[in-house]
Amino acid sequence: MNYEDVMKLALERGFYFPSCEIYPDAQAGFWEYGPSGVSLKNKFLELWRRELIRRDGMMEIDGSQIMSKSVFDASGHLGNFADPIIKCVKCKSTFRADRTIAEISKIEIPESADLEEFDNAILKNNIKCPKCGGDFENAKKFNMMFKVGIGPEEEPAYLRPETCQSIFVDFPRLFKTMRGKLPLGIAQVGKSFRNEISPRQSLLRLREFYQAEIEVFCNPTKLDQMENFSEIQDTVIRILTSSESVVMTCKEAVETGIIPNKFVAYYLGILTEFYDKTGIDITKSRFRKLGNKEKAFYAQIAFDFEVETTVGWLELVACNYRSDYDLSNHAKKSKEKFEVMDNDEKVLPHVFEISMGIDRSLYTILEHNLYDDKEHERIVLSLKPYLSPIHVGILSLVKKDGLKEKTDEIYLQIKRKYDAFLDHSGAIGRRYRRLDEVGAPFAVTVDHQTLQDGTVTIRKRDSMEQERIKISELDSLIAESTAYP
Ligand code: GLY
Repeated sequence: MNYEDVMKLALERGFYFPSCEIYPDAQAGFWEYGPSGVSLKNKFLELWRRELIRRDGMMEIDGSQIMSKSVFDASGHLGNFADPIIKCVKCKSTFRADRTIAEISKIEIPESADLEEFDNAILKNNIKCPKCGGDFENAKKFNMMFKVGIGPEEEPAYLRPETCQSIFVDFPRLFKTMRGKLPLGIAQVGKSFRNEISPRQSLLRLREFYQAEIEVFCNPTKLDQMENFSEIQDTVIRILTSSESVVMTCKEAVETGIIPNKFVAYYLGILTEFYDKTGIDITKSRFRKLGNKEKAFYAQIAFDFEVETTVGWLELVACNYRSDYDLSNHAKKSKEKFEVMDNDEKVLPHVFEISMGIDRSLYTILEHNLYDDKEHERIVLSLKPYLSPIHVGILSLVKKDGLKEKTDEIYLQIKRKYDAFLDHSGAIGRRYRRLDEVGAPFAVTVDHQTLQDGTVTIRKRDSMEQERIKISELDSLIAESTAYP
């Protein structure tokens, strides 16, 4: 199903909706998760922790969202974290230069291209303001960080544009106090903020968004000495470079030089395994190697993990080899020491990052798993059971004859352990369909036979099959079926 179908589901079933929507001055690019969205997000993050953080013995931190000016002086964001914009001389509307040019004339210019490239394209293709037909001023850069004033003196600070800067700033303390050893992964989940010029498409381009970032600190002379490489060497990945599109194992990707070393290949491999378990169609994914003008200013090598959806290829994860860019800049600015010992060798670690956009990932999971079961006149969200916002619906066939009380009793028994939804009202078929739409893998119905023999019917979302089981078997059946892989 497509973007509009997911949007309808999101709004009607409590996944997400616009922020401040009751007021006319609500700003674009801010969205809220409802109960179903929060439940899906929490389960997605638990899977992320299992498949990436704990699998690899990484550390997780939780840093501040507001950080001092010095951090972004050192990181280069004050100087470089800017989008190209164009302003109409007539109506004064402002647009992202690269996107407007691409939309009007289909010419793709990377966002980090020289400003003259945008001006030349506008001139050559006679591109005018999409709102009023006016001419554009010369392109200029717009810094995307949100500035805030701290205290009555309003000392300048910034909402972080990426979560990882606290990981870099905290690295010396963490390495020392947590007895770190290279390679060391440090992770963080949290919000980041970017003053996008044209936020759009709900979760796909936000001004306030969730990231799950992993920064792996390594000895740059040991990028091919990856002990765990054998775990993912046969994992198949899809790679798109400027000259070819290939499907190969991680081992082949290293041997042919498409991926520069085992270290990078290992993380692309475990990332692929993670996304496969989210229920995204992994055959519609690729690692796109970015060209020099597409890479972020701090990246030496960059692969975007992209997934095909009905609104095009979406970048879900930026995988950047940041070298010692961040640590050396913070060392210079702060005068702190960032070198660490790797056995007997003193090194300034290099960093490979796996920077995941959570909101876009959740959108893609929804789109890839939503289908129209026309035969049975129902919409089904066929989520992996461990990601489903609701594990099980608990329904009474009718409210009378003591069935309501028995249903309430079963619900009370399991609601602390599972995400259960109690529903007494409406036609049973409609109640099943509502549960199908929100992705609940099971619906349990209490009927008259329940009172006689202590059994209930359990209906499976995907097959719609129903079987009778004892109430005493319910717990183990739900536990087994909703366990993480
Ligand atoms: N830390 C990389 C990014 O935010 O894209």
